[in-house]
Amino acid sequence: MDMLQLSCIQITIALLLFTQAKSTTKEISALHPDDAVPSCVAGERSALLAFRAGLSDPGNLLSSWKGDDCCRWKGVYCSNRTSHVVKLDLQGSDDYRQALAGNISSSLLGLQHLRYLDLSDNGFDKIQIPEFMGSLHQLRYLDLSSSQFIGRIPPQLGNLSNLRYLNLESYSDTYSTDISWLSRLTSLEHLDMSQVNLSTIVHWLPVVNMLPTLKALRLVGCQLRSSPDSIQFSNLTSLETLNLSDNDFHRSSTPNWFWDLTSLKYLDISFNGFYGPFPDEIGNMTSIVELDLSKNNLVGMISSNLKNLCNLEGLVSLGNNINGSIAELFHRLPNCSQNKLKDLFLPESNLTGSLPTTLLEPLKNLSVLYLSDNKLTGHVPVWIGELTQLTDLGLDSNNLDGVIHEGHLSRLEMLEELRLSDNSIAITVSPTWVPPFSLVIIELRSCQLGPKFPMWLRWQKHASSLDISNTSINDMVPDWFWIAASSVGSLNIRNNQITGVLPSTMEFMRTREMDFSSNLLGGLIPKLPINLTDLDLSRNNLVGPLPLDFGAPGLATLLLYDNMISGAIPSSLCKLQSLRLLDISKNNLKGSISDCLVNESSTNMTDLSIVNLSLRDNNLSGDFPLLLQKCTQLIFLDLSNNQFSGTLPGWIGEKLSSLSFLRLRSNMFHGQIPVELTKLVDLQYLDLAYNNLSGSVPRSIVNCTGMTQRRDNDDLRDAFSAGVYSAGNYLVDYTENLTVLTKGQERLYTGEIIYMVNLDFSCNSLMGEIPEEISALVALKSLNLSWNKFNGKIPENIGALMQVESLDLSHNDLSGEIPSSLSTLTSLSRLNLSYNNLRGKIPTGNQLQTLEDPASIYIGNPGLCGSPLSWNCSHPEQVPTTRERKGDAMSDMVSFSLATGSGYVMGLWVVFCTFLFKRRWRAAWYSLCDNLYDHVYVQVAVTWASFRGRING
Ligand SMILES: *[C@@H]1O[C@H](CO)[C@@H](O)[C@H](O)[C@H]1NC(C)=O
Ligand SMILES: *[C@@H]1O[C@H](CO)[C@@H](O)[C@H](O)[C@H]1NC(C)=O
Ligand SMILES: *[C@@H]1O[C@H](CO)[C@@H](O)[C@H](O)[C@H]1NC(C)=O
Ligand SMILES: *[C@@H]1O[C@H](CO)[C@@H](O)[C@H](O)[C@H]1NC(C)=O
Ligand SMILES: *[C@@H]1O[C@H](CO)[C@@H](O)[C@H](O)[C@H]1NC(C)=O
Repeated sequence: MDMLQLSCIQITIALLLFTQAKSTTKEISALHPDDAVPSCVAGERSALLAFRAGLSDPGNLLSSWKGDDCCRWKGVYCSNRTSHVVKLDLQGSDDYRQALAGNISSSLLGLQHLRYLDLSDNGFDKIQIPEFMGSLHQLRYLDLSSSQFIGRIPPQLGNLSNLRYLNLESYSDTYSTDISWLSRLTSLEHLDMSQVNLSTIVHWLPVVNMLPTLKALRLVGCQLRSSPDSIQFSNLTSLETLNLSDNDFHRSSTPNWFWDLTSLKYLDISFNGFYGPFPDEIGNMTSIVELDLSKNNLVGMISSNLKNLCNLEGLVSLGNNINGSIAELFHRLPNCSQNKLKDLFLPESNLTGSLPTTLLEPLKNLSVLYLSDNKLTGHVPVWIGELTQLTDLGLDSNNLDGVIHEGHLSRLEMLEELRLSDNSIAITVSPTWVPPFSLVIIELRSCQLGPKFPMWLRWQKHASSLDISNTSINDMVPDWFWIAASSVGSLNIRNNQITGVLPSTMEFMRTREMDFSSNLLGGLIPKLPINLTDLDLSRNNLVGPLPLDFGAPGLATLLLYDNMISGAIPSSLCKLQSLRLLDISKNNLKGSISDCLVNESSTNMTDLSIVNLSLRDNNLSGDFPLLLQKCTQLIFLDLSNNQFSGTLPGWIGEKLSSLSFLRLRSNMFHGQIPVELTKLVDLQYLDLAYNNLSGSVPRSIVNCTGMTQRRDNDDLRDAFSAGVYSAGNYLVDYTENLTVLTKGQERLYTGEIIYMVNLDFSCNSLMGEIPEEISALVALKSLNLSWNKFNGKIPENIGALMQVESLDLSHNDLSGEIPSSLSTLTSLSRLNLSYNNLRGKIPTGNQLQTLEDPASIYIGNPGLCGSPLSWNCSHPEQVPTTRERKGDAMSDMVSFSLATGSGYVMGLWVVFCTFLFKRRWRAAWYSLCDNLYDHVYVQVAVTWASFRGRING
């Protein structure tokens, strides 16, 4: 070993002498050593080993770092003149699990000849950039980007006066409050400090202006606020690339210092809140190649000064308000003898009018034409077909119409992205047409492709995204489709009339998201593609039992509602450990829910990650499912309209501590409302209606802060969202299945359910007083305690429920006067106090005067008087007796069993809650209704309307 080191040193010295003898050119000659080059310097080898000792290397990137000759190690480059390590290229990996981690040892200082150091894309342990790096004086090139450094950028880097290239781009939390050290890097050509927080630095530009050789400056997302009008003596005469995207300038786009930089080739000032007109100044930037002005608040047509920018290759302006005709815009594009314009990217720009009928000169070389989300009208012109360089065509979300035929497409050999969604375009090509292109992205949502399945898709075998939803296809899915689509990542055929069955080979597809909902697909659910994460098969005709092996271990969303799936819920569901959203409502599932706790070999089965579970409208039975003990992250649980029975277990309140929505209506649960339920502090929606619950309402309900205060709904929103957001749509869009019962009707909620705060105990046998605490649930929008046996008075402070839109206390035994505070409920639009024993004067004022059908609100309370009833309170002797009043409303035929107020309540309670809501009793109920007096009929019909949705469904 010693001998070896000795010889190393001898050779090094020899080489040193040799190189000194020659005239030295100071250029990095960092090549991997060939056999002629001697091995590395021993001291540097130990420095490298010490450096490695501080790192952890899960991806084995440094596995070649063994043996004596460190110049042969991967990423280590020695000078072939001096043998010194001059370059260390240890760029990590996009996959952070494969990248280097750990700490950076100061032994790096042993490499004093280092000119090039790249440690980018690694995952160091959230350390600061080491100050000692400022002592690597020979460095020309330093890349520390995206490597999980945090904290202050050390000003010692200012000692690296030889630096040409410095990249500190950071996606962790780095900052600098003083960048004056930069001004010492006078040879710097490339500076990138993107995402470094520079928010406290006002005078950053004068510092940058000390760098006369700067060619590229990237300060993306640095939270910069100041952008001066001009620089007095600009040093930045070599600057070619300037990227100031995503800062906080929020000022007029002109005047501005960068418009004077006529050497600029690439300028990106997107996402900055610049306002004012589209700057004329651009016309002076004759070198400009690419210009990105996206997402500012620029208003008005682009400047006609652009006409002379003969080098312009790309004009990008997403989301500014150009607000003019597309033809006018095309006429203002550079028009030179040698046109270079390739990319025209102008989505969301308020462009109007039709595309011109002839191909204009400036457009002839386009490879990207992106005019999505504008207000374009008219046909898609045939000259599109002459743009033979076209790779991306985006015309989606406009008001275009007419037909696209082979003439538009047959010469577009380079086309990769075709986006035509959300227009009124029909794509009509011959069934035998073979397209010249192989598309990667196919977005044709809401185009007219049908009624036959579009045959040309057969040749698109490399698409990563295919959306042919809502395209009027009324056909059987052809076998070739499953082959063509097998490599598609995102597949959407939603909302057509596609028949056929899912293939048994589906498991071999590469699809990650599938939306087949609202079609006519039948048959069984086969084993799913292995990498599938989101699946929507809702609203089809699927039958049979659920698969015993779903086969998609990463499945996060599974929407199967509104099919005809039968059988029991298999324990295979418990194997879907990533499942977050499961909706199998509106099917024919029966039996009790399989208890994976028992079926798994051990009882320490890990918790499931499900947050949203809906099993409503099935025939499931048995006790409240024990399995749910393992679903500790549940936020939304809906078991309504099944045959579940038994008592509600107290562990709901302990195990399901995140629960915000609990819907158990229309089951056969009995016993008391467990007091533990009120430990669910986030609970904002509790629906226990139509069960056989008894006992009283726990006073501790007031602990449910979900009902007492408004809250930030971001976590809730998350619980209802699924899939990936692409092209303005969630691929798997779940929110539309959510319905809630409020204001007397089953309403379809789209996303708004997260704002619903609801308490519904109706149609049970609850008794005792309505706890005064209920008036503390001030976030409630709907409160329904009807059809129970509550007695005592209406809580005096009920008027505190300022958000309440619907309040139903009807069909109880409530007595006393109506609290006058009721008139302060300004949001109220539906009130029902009928059929109690309330008495005294009806409060007046505010919202109470505006309610519809006012008389029916109070009917069946013999002791009430005053408007809107016809009994005047000033003459109590005129108030009729209970018997007289009842006789008014009821026919003799039914009143015999309903002689007293409470008897009447009980009678109808039995009818409603026991018979009415079983489907088979529906017909009988209609005939019963026919025998009632009109007034009662109306009252019942109103109530009836509120339950129909679910009965019909
Ligand atoms: C280093 O080696 C390469 C190839 O072997 C050679 O082209 C280059 O001139 C050498 N540099 C010096 C400074 O000797
Ligand atoms: C231009 O750069 C040189 C070299 O860094 C510096 O000395 C000079 O002050 C700069 N000029 C301005 C106006 O900042
Ligand atoms: C363009 O440059 C010329 C010469 O420097 C100047 O006079 C003119 O004001 C500039 N135009 C704009 C719109 O800035
Ligand atoms: C489009 O222009 C109209 C005025 O013509 C304006 O009211 C609207 O806000 C603009 N839309 C966008 C997205 O800028
Ligand atoms: C599934 O995903 C893995 C990891 O991304 C990939 O290697 C594999 O090829 C995919 N398999 C299929 C069938 O798509």
